[in-house]
Amino acid sequence: MSIEPSSRRISAPDIRARKGGNPIVSLTSYHAHTAALLDKHCDLILVGDSLGMVMHGLESTIPVTLDMMILQGKAVMRGSSRALVVVDMPFGSYEASREQAFGSAARIMKETGCGAIKLEGGRRMADTIAFLVERGIPVMAHVGLTPQSINALGGFRTQGRDPSDWEPIEQDARAVAQAGAFAVVLEAIAEPLAAKITRDIPIPTIGIGASAACDGQVLVLEDMLGLSPRVPKFVKRYSDLGPAIDRAVAAYAAEVRARSFPAADNVYEMKPRRAKAP
Ligand code: KIV
Repeated sequence: MSIEPSSRRISAPDIRARKGGNPIVSLTSYHAHTAALLDKHCDLILVGDSLGMVMHGLESTIPVTLDMMILQGKAVMRGSSRALVVVDMPFGSYEASREQAFGSAARIMKETGCGAIKLEGGRRMADTIAFLVERGIPVMAHVGLTPQSINALGGFRTQGRDPSDWEPIEQDARAVAQAGAFAVVLEAIAEPLAAKITRDIPIPTIGIGASAACDGQVLVLEDMLGLSPRVPKFVKRYSDLGPAIDRAVAAYAAEVRARSFPAADNVYEMKPRRAKAP
C-alpha cells in the first residue's frame, strides 16, 4: 500500500527507507487545488520545472526562474499536508558552484517550506549534492534524459537503448547515490538499464518512462489527465479531461449568450423587508 497512516508529512528519509519496498507514488502539481486532490494518494508531490511548459506554454524548461518555482511551491505546500513536497531547482540556479546551489536551495526551502529539492545531473552534480546534504538540504537527483540539457542532448531522446550507452548512465546513478541523494528520478531510460540501476544502487529510483522495475513512478499530472496536447509514449492517459472541459465551457458560453445563466438559483435576492412597528 502506498498510503502511510500518518498525521505528519512524509519526509525525505521516509522515502529513502522505501527502497525495495512498496512502490512510491508521485505526481507533479503546481497549484493548491490539485495538490489537495493528490495529497491523500501520493507519497511525493513534485513541483516540477515542467510548469514552464505546462502552465506557461514555454518550449522548454530552460527559461523557468527561481521565483516561478517558489511561487508554485508555496501554493502546493498550502494545498497539501501529508505528502513530501519536492521543488525543482530551475536551470541556471545551481550549476555554477556548490555555493550558488546552496543559496538557491535554501531560498526554496525557507520561502516554500518544502521538504526537499530536486536537481538534474549525475557525476557532474555529485559534489554539489554532497555539499547540500551535509548542510541539511535533502536532494532528489534526476538522471537519464535531463530536460534542462535539451540543447546539449539535441532533443528529448530515450537513453540507454544501446548497451554501449549504459556505463555513463549507471555511473551517474551510482554517483548521486554515493553523494547522499535520498532518491533519484530515472527519465526515459530503456527498461533493462532502469532495472539494473534499481538493483545496483541503495536509494529508491523513481521512474518516468523507465518501466515498472523502478522503486516508484512519477508522471506530469496534466499528461495523465489528458490535458496536454502531445505526450510521450511512456504516458498513460488515465482520464481525458480536455473534451469534458470543452463541453463545459461550450455549455456556459451558450447559456450566457442565451441569458439563461445565471438562473434564479445563482442570483442573490433582496433581504425580506421587516414590517415597521406600529
Ligand atoms: O519537471 C518535472 O515535471 C520533472 C518530472 C518530469 C520528473 O522533472
